[in-house]
Amino acid sequence: MFGLHYKLERKAIGLVLGIVIVSSIGGLVEIAPLFTIHQTVENAPDMRVYTPLELSGRNIYIREGCYACHSQMIRTLRDEVERYGPYSLAVESKYDHPMLWGSKRTGPDLARIGGKYSDEWHVAHLNNPRDVMSVSVMPAYAWLSRTALRTDDMGLQLKAQRAVGVPYTDDMIANAAADTYGQAAPDTPFAEGVTKRYGAATNVRAFDGKPGDLTEMDALVAYLQILGRLTDAAYKPVAEAK
Ligand code: HEC
Repeated sequence: MFGLHYKLERKAIGLVLGIVIVSSIGGLVEIAPLFTIHQTVENAPDMRVYTPLELSGRNIYIREGCYACHSQMIRTLRDEVERYGPYSLAVESKYDHPMLWGSKRTGPDLARIGGKYSDEWHVAHLNNPRDVMSVSVMPAYAWLSRTALRTDDMGLQLKAQRAVGVPYTDDMIANAAADTYGQAAPDTPFAEGVTKRYGAATNVRAFDGKPGDLTEMDALVAYLQILGRLTDAAYKPVAEAK
């Protein structure tokens, strides 16, 4: 084996040919499965799009660089599945533009964080992680509770998402700003529009604990609470999910 390599290294053309053959095998292994992508990516008819409030929470997650310490992709390894829940399916990232799978875990994976903790826990944790986890190295994001959420551009945000394939309707786009407010204001007429457009199971509550006060904290917690919960596909047997 090493003898062959030694001889090959002294013949430039032979070495180049060898490199081309070996790297095309690697290329085939990566590219060939893409031709069957329509059969390999599961279907999730129950999947809903992010509400405007969740989408702005997602934008804050990106702005604050949470993805630098947190992944959102549970791998198929046993220890991951036991710790975080069913491994992530491709379809679960269908409406994620850009995707936030991440490549580094200073903190835990967040793909299924939705519903794991109460809103109060998230607010306390984001205000100062050390208050709930004494050894945490996560930075504090206390200003989120004090910063009013911008809503006037939500229609444009939804439109941009629609341009890359997320099925937002004209109705959703026209009411984006009102729905952003309504999802965090349960006792107002705006709340009804949110469940009408995004489904009865949508979380409608004052996520930051302050009803009537729409802050960036509302948006980020609404987003965290929906992670892994836009569809049940991962909890169904594989054959059924197709
Ligand atoms: C410097 C790295 C770092 C950054 C940046 C960071 N985190 Fe964390 N995060 C951690 C670590 C470490 C933990 C585990 C300790 C703890 O719970 O605080 C954690 C824990 C968490 C948890 C609890 C996870 C669980 O399963 O218990 C949530 C939720 C979370 N982070 C959300 C966020 C959000 C949202 C942001 C951005 C606003 C963020 N993190 C930014 C490092 C980070």
